[in-house]
Amino acid sequence: MGYAQIIGTGGYLPEKILTNFDLEKIVDTSHEWIVERTGIHQRHIAAAHETSLTMAENAAHVAMNAAGIMPAEIGMIIVATTTPEKTFPSTACLLQQRLGIAGCPAFDLNSTACAGFVYALSIADQFIRQGAINNAMVIGSEVMSRVVDWSDRTISILFGDGAGAVILGAAEQPGVLSTHLHADGTHKDVLFLPNHIGNVTDVDTELYMQMNGKQLFKLSVNILGHLFDETLAANNLKKSDVNWLVPHQANIRIIEAMAKKLDLPMERVAITLNEQGNTSAASIPLALDKAIRDTRIKRGDMLLLEGFGGGLAWGSALIKY
Ligand code: COA
Repeated sequence: MGYAQIIGTGGYLPEKILTNFDLEKIVDTSHEWIVERTGIHQRHIAAAHETSLTMAENAAHVAMNAAGIMPAEIGMIIVATTTPEKTFPSTACLLQQRLGIAGCPAFDLNSTACAGFVYALSIADQFIRQGAINNAMVIGSEVMSRVVDWSDRTISILFGDGAGAVILGAAEQPGVLSTHLHADGTHKDVLFLPNHIGNVTDVDTELYMQMNGKQLFKLSVNILGHLFDETLAANNLKKSDVNWLVPHQANIRIIEAMAKKLDLPMERVAITLNEQGNTSAASIPLALDKAIRDTRIKRGDMLLLEGFGGGLAWGSALIKY
């Protein structure tokens, strides 16, 4: 059995930027409050014509270019998104059609929310390890701006839009060393997006995302701490073996707590939160792409990716880049 290695990454961010100062004109908030409590300064917002599909397509082309492969070489497409173009066909099928590569498996992971990218990466990794496919395209793409209530200051300040893509390719050397996925539905009410489809008794429920921020904050710090211990133990590694933390970008205080847990200085944490906010399933591949592109992350570095979100669902991936 071989390994799956990251052979290319790409990202796409909508042109429009919404700053904290812009938000001050929409809700009762301040730039200072948002920066102090979250670390976010601005976020990108999709234009009316942009969707999770168009952004995924843009990120996919950048990643294929970086990997030096053609669409026909892709053996599987997984798009992690809570804001898909349609309920079905999947965003991945629509992307496959645009890439002109009918035949390979293509599907969305719709409901793993901000943990979606690590879940998708884990699935693609299994297929490559088993030798079933050579290359997989794993994308996180979200238009969170369409599922936040812009009149709710406790949630609208947090999220942004964008897409990140990773091409995994079969390799003899590691690669993805291990992935660890978890979920706990007892925390279903901490973060959720009501969906009327398939639920005739719930037609009057909120259209927008609901969150208990304080509870989620505490839960995430706790579960991520255990997740790091599990990930390192599974690979017989120490904290000092990790060169980079590539976290889900939810709150700078959560990220700082996680860096501390790993004894990593913040310079060794891939951060995009300040510029992009929380882009849900897109946040990890976008942070990874940025740090690879500006050459902070180098070949041979040991990367710890972690994501958590509604479900609760959470997971990690340890990767020798
Ligand atoms: N601007 C100004 N004041 C705000 C505000 C805003 N945007 N949002 C809330 N406040 C107020 C509250 O009303 C509260 O006022 P009070 O003390 O008079 O009642 C005060 O600020 C503190 O609110 P609190 O909710 O305790 O703040 P917090 O420090 O917990 O920060 C979050 C709130 C949402 C930023 C934080 O809890 C968080 O990031 N949680 C995790 C969220 C997350 O990870 N989500 C995505 C997961 S994928």
